[in-house]
Amino acid sequence: MTVPAIQIEDLTKDYPAGFLNTKKKRSLESLTMQVEEGEAFGFLGPNGAGKSTTMKLLMGIIFPTSGSAKILGRPISDVEMHKDIGYLPEQPYFYDYLTASELLDYFARFYGFSAAERKARVEKMLKKVGLETAGKIQLRKYSKGMLQRVGLAQAILHQPKVVILDEPMSGLDPIGRREVRDIILELKRDGRTILFSTHILTDAEMLCDRVGVIVGGKLQGVGRPDEIVGLKAQGMEILFEADTGNAKTAAILAKAAKSGSRYALHVPEESLYLTLDELKAAGAKITSVAQIKPTLEEYFMHLVEKDRAQAAAIEVHGK
Ligand SMILES: Nc1ncnc2c1ncn2[C@@H]1O[C@H](COP(=O)(O)OP(=O)(O)O)[C@@H](O)[C@H]1O
Ligand SMILES: [Mg+2]
Repeated sequence: MTVPAIQIEDLTKDYPAGFLNTKKKRSLESLTMQVEEGEAFGFLGPNGAGKSTTMKLLMGIIFPTSGSAKILGRPISDVEMHKDIGYLPEQPYFYDYLTASELLDYFARFYGFSAAERKARVEKMLKKVGLETAGKIQLRKYSKGMLQRVGLAQAILHQPKVVILDEPMSGLDPIGRREVRDIILELKRDGRTILFSTHILTDAEMLCDRVGVIVGGKLQGVGRPDEIVGLKAQGMEILFEADTGNAKTAAILAKAAKSGSRYALHVPEESLYLTLDELKAAGAKITSVAQIKPTLEEYFMHLVEKDRAQAAAIEVHGK
């Protein structure tokens, strides 16, 4: 049996909160999930859901209140193991007066590459993230998008087996997002494991083998993007054309919604054939039959609203 690339067990994080930090705020609650080797896993959730907290815990930047995690089969406290990991923080901060080349060279020294190797690797990375012409410019003159790319170059410079990217597409224009997406796809083709967080659902749908949805510190579901959405099948939609003057169609038209020159009727899956027969008998022309699937976006909003309703209920009844 192969070991998962990332294994998270019952991970909980409380931050001190309130006046004099005497209270605690639970930001992550008993998170258990795993990311398989070679998988691109999207960690989805609205702001404040606990995505960055999870990633910082995995990187050993903050420490769990309880629970544990392993990366490549080794505990997250294992310093050696971290050489095989690349990390892009949510808001990468770099020393302003360095150029991108200098910064990447500085990081490359950590990994013990020779001078010649460093030079080749830095050039290759700058090219990969589309900064080959900007490499000699000081970082203080960079736009947010350019800094994000330097951060990405820094994260993959040492060809890590596991890449953890916190909102890699944030602050980028559509072209920048596309470029980051291509880089992630390339990492995937190379067989690397990628865990990235996002609140941009289309990016996740396009890139991920699986997604985990987290809201209010709690994991709400894990699965393939289409599976996650398919969790609540919503019946069938029949589009048809019908003659409004026909007395037979009147009953059916009363239940249908007009959509342009056609009508749309939503029915539960089990009554599909019966309805089609009725429509045929009424002389309607059926133009399409399709499954009604909520988008990932709709699923996501549904979870967020559920969580808000629960939180409100606790506030009312809790004390
Ligand atoms: N250092 C901290 N001290 C106190 N609360 C924090 C700290 N960092 C994050 N939080 C809180 O923990 C929750 C989760 O935050 P975070 O992990 O950054 O969410 P996300 O990355 O999904 O937007 C939020 O409510 C946030 O306010
Ligand atoms: Mg975050």
